Amino acid sequence: MSQQSNIDSLTQVLGETFGLYVQTHGYHWNVEGPQFRQLHMLFEEQYQNLWAALDEIAERIRCLGAYAPGSLSELMALAGDTPAVAQSAEAMVDALIKANSTIADTLREAITTAQEAGDEVSAGMLTDRLEWHEKELWMMKSSRK
Ligand SMILES: [Fe+2]
Repeated sequence: MSQQSNIDSLTQVLGETFGLYVQTHGYHWNVEGPQFRQLHMLFEEQYQNLWAALDEIAERIRCLGAYAPGSLSELMALAGDTPAVAQSAEAMVDALIKANSTIADTLREAITTAQEAGDEVSAGMLTDRLEWHEKELWMMKSSRK
């Protein structure tokens, strides 16, 4: 696997992370219901982590000699489908379970691509990202049982 494939998959991870960041921050603002405080705070922890991850991923792309997508239109083109506006707290958690599962799948592929390009540093960073998404998935799925 080439370094260009590795850069492309890191760029894809960046775009999907950006889309999930926007979705999660929007839910932080708009969540309602008896679980308000708990979910408002959970979504805040998540969007802060995602925001910090964007910087780390983009700067890794720069370390590899490529440019990171620097416009909203470029990022949103990579972000995937715009999720429907969730109407309830439960629908928000379900939508975030779906979106985090999607990005976890992208990360699993990106880890393999980075390893095949001999880029252990990116593979390690992406593995840390996958660990975070899997933990959030566990917590959100547990809250829906
Ligand atoms: Fe806030």
